[in-house]
Amino acid sequence: MDKSKRRTVIAGNWKMNQNTAETKGLLAEMQQTVKADNCDVVICTPFTSLSAALQATESSFINIGAQNVHFAKNGAYTGEISAQMLKELGVKYVITGHSERRQYFNETNETVNMRTRAAIDEGLIAIVCVGESLTEREQEITNEVVRLQTKIALSGFSVEDLKNVIIAYEPVWAIGTGRTASAEQAEEVCCEIRNLLSELYSQEVAQSVTIQYGGSMNAQNADELLSKPNVDGGLIGGASLKAADFAAIVAAASK
Ligand code: PGA
Repeated sequence: MDKSKRRTVIAGNWKMNQNTAETKGLLAEMQQTVKADNCDVVICTPFTSLSAALQATESSFINIGAQNVHFAKNGAYTGEISAQMLKELGVKYVITGHSERRQYFNETNETVNMRTRAAIDEGLIAIVCVGESLTEREQEITNEVVRLQTKIALSGFSVEDLKNVIIAYEPVWAIGTGRTASAEQAEEVCCEIRNLLSELYSQEVAQSVTIQYGGSMNAQNADELLSKPNVDGGLIGGASLKAADFAAIVAAASK
């Protein structure tokens, strides 16, 4: 397994945290403490903090991302934000299909596909989240669930489109719970996703796509998770709100 064929990406997902003042403060702290070597760093802020974040990270190694995007270019979609709007701000990345969006806002595999499509068409890099619930893991259908989510999310995507896609495997039971998947569990599912990409596209394409693990990744467990051959980075919630913890995770990814 040759990890050098793909980028390692550590992305922080701040969720509904950090107003503009807090955003500036934390990003300033991160620029002092985080040292990224051969690893891409992304911070996904709330929509309202994006401008402040972009300003605070101008000519910095920290890239800024949004946490969701609508599938339409514009129109009567009260409360939504389009890919064009994000692009205009200077945002580079966007998360799609996060399990909290699926769980609390009724997003489906189909709308995740449409949102990801809109992001890619606008030249954004999409971090597409997939992952099973605890019940699904207990029913031993993890691989089936994750395969289905990934397949539908990427439906209609060309090899060229895939260059702007990162997949984040995030078991729902590990998100915000402090209960991390073991490195073996993370590796097994990330490997399964790569096998699916190989079936859908080719071995070469499968080897080129960054697949992250997410779900209670922290300063203590990052090293082991990131040492796995198919785990190419992390999507980090809680630990991305503390500069020192996030710096330790980026250091682990930079090894
Ligand atoms: P967590 O969140 O690191 O707090 O578990 C991960 C995520 O939701 O992306």
